[in-house]
Amino acid sequence: ETTTVGIVGAGPAGLLLRHLLHRAGIATITIDNRTRQEIAETQRAGILEQGSVELLTETGAISRIRDNGYEHGGIYLRFDGENHHIDFTGLVNASVWLYPQNEVFVDLAETADRDGADVRYGVSDTEVDGWRGEHPVIRYTDADGVRREIRPDLLVGADGSRSVTRRSIPHEERSDHFIEYPFAWFGFLVDAPPSADELIYSTSEHGFVLISQRTETMQRMYFQCDPGENPDEWDDERIWAEMDRRLEGRDGFTLKKGPIHTKNVLPFRSFVCEPMRHGRLVLAGDAGHTVPPTGAKGLNLALNDVRVLAPAIERWVASGDDAELDVYSDAALQRVWRAQRFSYQMTTMLHTTADATPFERRRTLAELRDIVDSRHGQAALAEAYTGWPHLA
Ligand code: DHB
Repeated sequence: ETTTVGIVGAGPAGLLLRHLLHRAGIATITIDNRTRQEIAETQRAGILEQGSVELLTETGAISRIRDNGYEHGGIYLRFDGENHHIDFTGLVNASVWLYPQNEVFVDLAETADRDGADVRYGVSDTEVDGWRGEHPVIRYTDADGVRREIRPDLLVGADGSRSVTRRSIPHEERSDHFIEYPFAWFGFLVDAPPSADELIYSTSEHGFVLISQRTETMQRMYFQCDPGENPDEWDDERIWAEMDRRLEGRDGFTLKKGPIHTKNVLPFRSFVCEPMRHGRLVLAGDAGHTVPPTGAKGLNLALNDVRVLAPAIERWVASGDDAELDVYSDAALQRVWRAQRFSYQMTTMLHTTADATPFERRRTLAELRDIVDSRHGQAALAEAYTGWPHLA
């Protein structure tokens, strides 16, 4: 089989790229080793930058967000036992939308159905090769156990942080930049109403907590934990005791509680693979870079990669000039590094480590004060969180 663009990975990056290329009249085949149901049911982050929402809605990629998502005009930073509001709308005239990644996927998958797109879920043993020359090849076993081969003109690796496409690039030909963190997130869903009108990012000497939301009746929360933590050892009572301890403050803020379910531990790291183009292989989304979750940049970066990549592929198809693909890598990496900077700061500023010195604790509190006590500090955070409207 042949096609113009072979896309490995049917998550938001892969499916949005498919959609934008379809609109440009460019043929694609997309494969994913997960089933459609698995992708739809995996809990991921929930915040879309304003530019992501515009990209997804204005191109007709998704249509349910205005009815089923929630617009948020700010966040709270909680430390020293008090909430400090960061008013995105007032500061930088921008907002974000709470609309979980799995809903974005469901919408994109339905758009693909409507387009009659060729998206193959539940494949296995994917291998890629040939991208050094002009004839990339994708080999995989389909859901019925039949070994198959696709020969695209261009190969796109949108297959997430454990990318098999990235791993087909020898280490000596790429620069991997990464840092590990000595903590992870314990995430869970709660059947309860929201505890606040917007998200709360909280830190205390006992560690980080994020109070996020899903709907009027279901909430998503996280607390910093050890990467080796076992969710089965945490019953509801123990989780609420830990949350209360970390959120305690003189303002008397209390969580709205309810039955807890869908618990999981998410280890994380910061990672960038440079460049994002090797011959006829380009990487997009988590395959090329991963951010720690604090600040919810992962999905937004993936969507932005595709926003830059789709027109680069159009120009490449028209001209046959591989330099267009380098334009993509260089442009996308600008924002990737800005998001790395922001996610790193949000993570290190809001998490605690057992071996932190008193100096380190006081320095971190001063960093938080530099944000909340200054309109400029608040505006800088607001600009980054809502997505740097001035960046390409
Ligand atoms: C969510 C996750 C994040 O990492 C974040 O910064 C905000 C929200 C979420 O899952 O809702």
